[in-house]
Amino acid sequence: MGCVEDIDLTDLDRFAHGFPHAVFDHLRERQPVWWHPPTAHTPDGEGFWVLSRYADIVAVAGDSSTYSSESGGNRSGGGTLIEDLPADWAVGVLLNMMDDPRHAGVRKLLMPSVAPRTLKLIEDDLRQRAEILVDTALEQGECDFLLDLAAELPLQAVAQLLGVPQADRHQLFGWANVALDYDDRELGEATARTRQAVAETRAYGAKLFAAKATDPGDDLMSLVVHADVDGRPLTEMEQAMLFSLLIAAGSETTRNSIAVGMLALIERPEVWRSLRADRSQLDGAVEEMLRWASSTSYNRRTATRDTVLGGQRIRAGDKVTLWWTSANRDATVFTDPHRFDIGRRPNPHLAFGRGGHFCLGSNLARMEMRVLFGTLLDRVGGAELTGAVEYTRSNKHTGVRHLPVRLSGVGD
Ligand code: HEM
Repeated sequence: MGCVEDIDLTDLDRFAHGFPHAVFDHLRERQPVWWHPPTAHTPDGEGFWVLSRYADIVAVAGDSSTYSSESGGNRSGGGTLIEDLPADWAVGVLLNMMDDPRHAGVRKLLMPSVAPRTLKLIEDDLRQRAEILVDTALEQGECDFLLDLAAELPLQAVAQLLGVPQADRHQLFGWANVALDYDDRELGEATARTRQAVAETRAYGAKLFAAKATDPGDDLMSLVVHADVDGRPLTEMEQAMLFSLLIAAGSETTRNSIAVGMLALIERPEVWRSLRADRSQLDGAVEEMLRWASSTSYNRRTATRDTVLGGQRIRAGDKVTLWWTSANRDATVFTDPHRFDIGRRPNPHLAFGRGGHFCLGSNLARMEMRVLFGTLLDRVGGAELTGAVEYTRSNKHTGVRHLPVRLSGVGD
């Protein structure tokens, strides 16, 4: 790594071949609280702070009154992406871009639906779904592990959780894919395609809520449509945006953790064999895959007041980005951090974030990974790559677009 002048975290081409770990090794060592100047790619034409060390990120994520998920200073927009989003549909409306007390109220409403005890009820169903997916892939011999397995299970799970008819899931997946895709655009830009996908997801959500209002089921969307948070029901916009958030957050991140985790295992056949021989290592392997993949690369906060962090003066209104992926490779917390080690204990990774906005779907994501990898270990003797891995061109979601593999059965 040369010097910080070479670094541009808003140039998505730098993420097109995987997360640039070397850049963050350099930042953690030399400039842990770094002011990223604006470049030709930077949205809103303004710089932002980059936090790369575990300890700083934990401190900021735990101080939501100084570092807001909504906004700060004189800004009208804000949110948790580098680019400012507007207040009318995102900031203060989307759960993850909302501050307390409303944020805490909505979160409390959703918690029981994603608690381990509730999720246990869908575990057998998910296992059956995983078995069908794995058997189909084995019959075919070759598959795109990303599309056929890694994306499918989370999608089926989130559809079930939200009460979306399974027949509609691919339509929603298609929209979420377009909305999160940066292949033909740069940060902060929308295209006709992405605008349409966002609008169609919102319209679908509104229709689903209307249906749940008259004909409720035993699902999360039915709960939300009938709920009050501190005496005030969720507005139509809050409901629609919560739906879009859960579809996107529930499918995109988990599939990337599964796919990048699988890639780590394909590259280490001895670990695959060891896991098959001793299944008690599976929980540790899932945690290591989560750390290794760190599929949500960063989230942003906005300083609400002037403050000092790591000797740097942060001003009210400054954008501050927390790079979870970098924290997960911090050698002061993880011994030999660039080594994939399923026996790592403890493994206090920040893949699900930290503090008040800690991932609401962490139990579900962990369960999906346990179920899918458990099924794979039961039925798959070996896996090999049959083509090039295509990475996602994004600085927000680290993952792959295609993972061509050949799976062989246990007796092959
Ligand atoms: C491996 C998979 C996943 C990863 C790596 C991941 C990562 C994260 C991270 C880092 C945050 C914190 C955001 C922040 O601090 O600004 C977060 C929040 C959130 N996640 Fe996940 N997530 C995953 C799976 C899921 C699933 C399956 C769901 C839904 C079913 C979900 C729903 C949410 C929601 C609603 C929030 C916002 C919580 C709040 O603001 O209080 N996530 N996630």
